[in-house]
Amino acid sequence: MANSANNKFPKIGLGTYKIAGDTGVIIIKQAIQLGYRMFDTAFVYENEHIIGQAIREAISEGTVSREELTVISKLGPCHHHPDRVEQGCRLSLLRLGLDYIDLYLLHTPVALKYRSDDELKPLDSDGKVELDDELSPLDTWLALEKCVQKGLVRMIGVSNFNRSQLEQILNGGNIRPTVNQVECSLKFHQKELRDYCSNEGIKCMAFTPLGKPKANEMENSFLNLDELQVIAKKYGKTSAQIALRYLVDLNVIPIPKSTNEARLKQNLEALNFELQKEDMHKLDHLVEQKRLMTLNWLTHSKHYPF
Ligand code: A2P
Repeated sequence: MANSANNKFPKIGLGTYKIAGDTGVIIIKQAIQLGYRMFDTAFVYENEHIIGQAIREAISEGTVSREELTVISKLGPCHHHPDRVEQGCRLSLLRLGLDYIDLYLLHTPVALKYRSDDELKPLDSDGKVELDDELSPLDTWLALEKCVQKGLVRMIGVSNFNRSQLEQILNGGNIRPTVNQVECSLKFHQKELRDYCSNEGIKCMAFTPLGKPKANEMENSFLNLDELQVIAKKYGKTSAQIALRYLVDLNVIPIPKSTNEARLKQNLEALNFELQKEDMHKLDHLVEQKRLMTLNWLTHSKHYPF
């Protein structure tokens, strides 16, 4: 089975969910100035045009070259049918205004009915999202492989896949998924799935690595835990930097989101130190393990992964 390409990644990327508008362009360009080289978007985020504009401007202003960047996008769940995969991929390329995507992910193992390119969440008469459940993730994967062969994308991978779904791809596909992008943080550190991915040479990329803290509810965030703050103080870092560094030291690639320049910088600086083993062990057990992102609108699918 082939690997999809030279699969070297920056150690941290920027999540862009909800980044929008002209301020979105400014944020992405600030991030490039600060040293971010990997950006994660998706067809369903409806912001590929913003990410693409910022990247194209930064390239034409000479801040960075295309080859230095790793651009990640994801196939929308309504484009899973093998006859629609290339269409979905070409739409993302058009919106990004780029010639190729570095890493293209199957956003979820669950397929939705296609109605039009703009209808992202088709509903049935019961108000549930309308599934295309006869499509297996492997059917879609085999069509994604063709996007690599056509040079539209450099690498392919998956997101929100469980172990048995990864096994199906490894058994039936021709190209090994480069990445499984999943929720991973102090709050849900995914030890079993991480170990499986690591044994199979699949990189684990972490969305929601900070546990999605909300500025007005910081008391509910694990970043606020006294024990975490004690460790942060020991290293002269913030809790967020410890939470990110924990993932980096587990060989996981975090993609934290931020729209604030100081926090963008702070998060990238999680690369400038290492955690001692004893603190890694403490962090393994610090936070009660609970998934935050349950994809609960997809539970009626036989491919629901959790
Ligand atoms: P902001 O955009 O104001 O920086 P996650 O990536 O886990 O989903 O978390 C995203 C949230 O975390 C955003 O609301 C972001 O807010 C906040 N955030 C990002 N970096 C930090 C940080 N270093 N410290 C505290 N909150 C942060």
